[in-house]
Amino acid sequence: MSAETSNPLAERLMRRLGESSVRSGVIGLGYVGLPLAVELARGGCKVVGLDIDSRKVDAIQRGTSYIPDVADEDVAVLVAKGSLSATTDFAALADLDTVNVCVPTPLRKTKDPDVSYMVAAVTAIAAHLHPGMLVILESTTYPGTTEELVQPILEATGLRAGRDFFLAFSPERIDPGNPQFHTSNVPKVVGGTTETCAALAACLYRRSIDTVVVVGSTRAAEMVKLLENTFRAVNIGLVNEMAMMCDTLGIDVWEVVNAAATKPFGFMPFYPGPGLGGHCIPVDPFYLSWKAKQDGFEPRFIDLAGDVNGHMPQYVVGKIADALNTRRKALNGARVLVLGVTYKRDVDDVRESPALDVMKTLREKGANIAYSDPHVPLLGATLWNGPHDLRSLALDAAALQQFDCAVIVTDHRAFDYELIVAHSDCIVDTRNALGDRLAPNVVRLGAPAPPNAQLLAEAHRRRAA
Ligand SMILES: NC(=O)c1ccc[n+]([C@@H]2O[C@H](COP(=O)([O-])OP(=O)(O)OC[C@H]3O[C@@H](n4cnc5c(N)ncnc54)[C@H](O)[C@@H]3O)[C@@H](O)[C@H]2O)c1
Repeated sequence: MSAETSNPLAERLMRRLGESSVRSGVIGLGYVGLPLAVELARGGCKVVGLDIDSRKVDAIQRGTSYIPDVADEDVAVLVAKGSLSATTDFAALADLDTVNVCVPTPLRKTKDPDVSYMVAAVTAIAAHLHPGMLVILESTTYPGTTEELVQPILEATGLRAGRDFFLAFSPERIDPGNPQFHTSNVPKVVGGTTETCAALAACLYRRSIDTVVVVGSTRAAEMVKLLENTFRAVNIGLVNEMAMMCDTLGIDVWEVVNAAATKPFGFMPFYPGPGLGGHCIPVDPFYLSWKAKQDGFEPRFIDLAGDVNGHMPQYVVGKIADALNTRRKALNGARVLVLGVTYKRDVDDVRESPALDVMKTLREKGANIAYSDPHVPLLGATLWNGPHDLRSLALDAAALQQFDCAVIVTDHRAFDYELIVAHSDCIVDTRNALGDRLAPNVVRLGAPAPPNAQLLAEAHRRRAA
């Protein structure tokens, strides 16, 4: 540690962080918090997960997982060893050396940050804050949150950050459903209120995470995450606009992006789709633009990307209406099957999913809607703005033949695309899930209809099959 650390509390915690008896807490056991709790426990910490949702706590205590990326067995082994436990009782904070905060950071309807979850969690920590404790915020938030919001709540106890307790920000970067990258092999960025705070946080993470990158402040660490997610939102906005342009110009945007991606430098492929979803990309950039506007700076890219991406569900409904129209059918009264309702492939998360906006607009226009999603057995009425809950439809030839149009909103690997193409009257594919399966009944977002010759050949092949 640096010269700054002639602080006995810091030295003691640094020693503790090298011991197997170090006690760590994770507040908020969702998509971010549970994988982190498991990795910290694997790294040798004795971990307590804290959540206000007793169902999650009970599941962990039973040794089961409710997050697809975390196997039941991994939780069971750690719980049986006594390395991982969970509770709704925040008094457990009193015994912890470290605590990570992983609670939601949604937007209000006005697109302003809703910091209420963070405030509640940090207030709970303040009630049990003790000298030598390390507090790390992981929730994605605007630059300045750790210093301006979290630190004052904790310092209201009379303890000082960097002197009596230690405070850091480290953005979570997991990508749910990604089989290659998970909590332990995605580099962890850390910024501390002081150099010592950063060093202590880095030391905790190094127990469990392959690479730790220390930046000079909590603000820089907060901004790193917002740059990453704004980069995605803006590039997805760009390629979504390209897709709409390609529709107009009669060019295949998928072919264009894939060919451009062969350039070995200076280009990174992003793909169009039905709009943004999840708890991050549609939300986080607005945390940044809110903060920038507070300080008198008007960001332009964020709002423009939000506008283009937010328009995509309506654009998709327009494609469905056009596809039905070419078959002399109206959207009003049509039977439309939505394939995939999660915000991305192979996950079970429907938060901010563009499928829900597509369904809402279809319903407003008089379509009769059903959905199929192997990861979402039930969709509550409030989620899809419908009159009743919907159950996921099991797909077979007879089921598919009931619909005037099937729209692929989420390209889950579990779908049987051969079956879908063979038995659907008309398919609108917003993800290029059908790739080269050019067929007369397939309409792709951002791509012209197949040329007549291909249509005829394909129709012939299908009749013969
Ligand atoms: N989901 C992702 O892919 C992802 C990726 C990177 C970063 N993030 C960020 O991580 C944070 C958490 O996201 P998530 O997807 O894990 O959310 P989540 O909704 O899956 O989990 C949050 C958990 O916090 C609990 N909670 C809420 N208030 C609480 C409180 N006061 N005390 C204790 N527990 C409380 C909830 O019950 C829930 O279990 C957000 O800021 C998000 O932007 C998410």
